[in-house]
Amino acid sequence: MKTIKQHYRVDRREIAFLKFILEAYDGIAVLKTEDASQGVITAHIAPGCEKQFADVLQDLKKDIMIEPVQMNTKHLYLHTIGCQMNVYDSEQIAMRLAPLGYEQTASMDSADLIIINTCSVRAKAEQKAFSLLGRLARIKRNKRRLIIGVGGCVAQQEGEKILERMPCIDLVFGTQAIDRLPRLIQQIEDRRCRLVDVEMDEVQDIPEFLEGPRTESQVSKFVTIMRGCDNYCAYCVVPFVRGRETSREPESIIREIRILVENGVKEVTLLGQNVNSYGKKQRLCSFPELLAKINAIEGLLRIRFTTSHPKDLSPELIVAFRDFDKLCPHIHLPVQSGSDRILKRMNRKYTIDQYLDKVAKLRDTCTDIAITSDIIVGFPGETEADFEKTLELIKTVEYDGLFAFQYSDRPNAPSVKLPDKISEPLKRERLQTLLDLQEKFTKRKNKVLVGSTQWVLTDGLSKKQVSGQPDAGNRALQWTGRTPSNKIVNFYLDEHPAANQSLAGQLIGVRIDKAFSHSLFGKATGAEPSAGGLKGVENYAA
Ligand code: 5AD
Ligand code: SF4
Repeated sequence: MKTIKQHYRVDRREIAFLKFILEAYDGIAVLKTEDASQGVITAHIAPGCEKQFADVLQDLKKDIMIEPVQMNTKHLYLHTIGCQMNVYDSEQIAMRLAPLGYEQTASMDSADLIIINTCSVRAKAEQKAFSLLGRLARIKRNKRRLIIGVGGCVAQQEGEKILERMPCIDLVFGTQAIDRLPRLIQQIEDRRCRLVDVEMDEVQDIPEFLEGPRTESQVSKFVTIMRGCDNYCAYCVVPFVRGRETSREPESIIREIRILVENGVKEVTLLGQNVNSYGKKQRLCSFPELLAKINAIEGLLRIRFTTSHPKDLSPELIVAFRDFDKLCPHIHLPVQSGSDRILKRMNRKYTIDQYLDKVAKLRDTCTDIAITSDIIVGFPGETEADFEKTLELIKTVEYDGLFAFQYSDRPNAPSVKLPDKISEPLKRERLQTLLDLQEKFTKRKNKVLVGSTQWVLTDGLSKKQVSGQPDAGNRALQWTGRTPSNKIVNFYLDEHPAANQSLAGQLIGVRIDKAFSHSLFGKATGAEPSAGGLKGVENYAA
């Protein structure tokens, strides 16, 4: 169980007495002596007992000198590779290490602890992790006290081997070890040992969300609603490195979102490997029922989710796009291939006809829904004819955007053993053909929006503005945000904005003037969004 640590200076002759008194309170806190000569002690407070501990302390202070002391701040450099779930996990890692005195730093050189949160879904991500770890070896040569930890999917996959291969690494912790991390780091600090914790349970304990500092205000946040995956797609390493599918209790999710909203968050993206099967295994509520509860949270403006397995996309979820005003009209629906033969080899459990049927139903129910997808090119045995079918599918669906990847063998994934591997040059060529085709559709989809007014949830100043290169001749600040369909919009206000007034977190009606491949550009029209307008498009031109 994770305890909360607080440090105090007391009269050293009173340390034994304080320990004795606290023992009488049935384990609300344990006192440890840090420095007997200076009278510095650390209270390890049991979670949930903070208030009771504070009351006891208040009473004791009437007779004894007890003052809080700040221990030396240590610096944590946290680098995240991979998906949104890793981003969420990294935040939770930082929160769990704060009670040990670790504050996050953006500079690797000033760090006392470096943690690399890794991804192994594709070979490239894994190579990235190892090349970064190689660089760390050089830093450690000049800084012996530096602690280096490797977490996430590569850590889970490689375990002990990482310690054998890389003497500079002190800790390897797996995807289910986040709650145990403070204890592991403390052990390394105390004994300078090297540790591996890649234990995986059949039913995962989902770490309870820890609240961030109140000053941190962000517009949009990820919220993990489930972990692991039971689907075993033939190419995929996830079931092996993230374990069995486990959903989080709805109450815990709602509590987390409420706290985020109190801290200024306006949009949440619910994360899971396959959100459509949320709650089924543990008989919690269904995913659409969860969405209904989240939709009712006051102050929250937008809900998104990812990822949906097409086989589990239910009619109830399709109508959720019509019924829940906060659910944004965008779905990421990874198809992976346009060929039924390849889908079967991939163990995807749907056909292209079934997929297209769901796409049609989504568009019937929610006319302005944006659809994006993932595609793997060069899966073992993929013929020219199979690849052509994928291109045909792209032309039929006209996706708003695509993420396309060259197939790579992953440890334990069943496809490793499949014959007829595709050569690297052919995979590269197919990927380029596919991306060129999709670019036309992405641009076309973006162009359709020119002349319309879109509700943009503003994230903050645009990248150009932050880097000090706003458009020449324009004195107004440039902002950035996203449409309900998840397209990036950079925009100016029509009028010069009030000095220093931040638009972050505000819904602004923006008239779209230009469309590019990856973003839109426009001007705020000054229109106020109405409740029903959060999702929709206002037609400006016609
Ligand atoms: N090779 C290439 N792409 C992969 N993906 C998953 N595993 C592999 C692999 N072995 C892609 C899929 C998935 C996305 C997250 O990564 O398209 O949807
Ligand atoms: Fe991997 Fe398939 Fe699970 Fe997605 S659904 S995480 S692709 S096994």
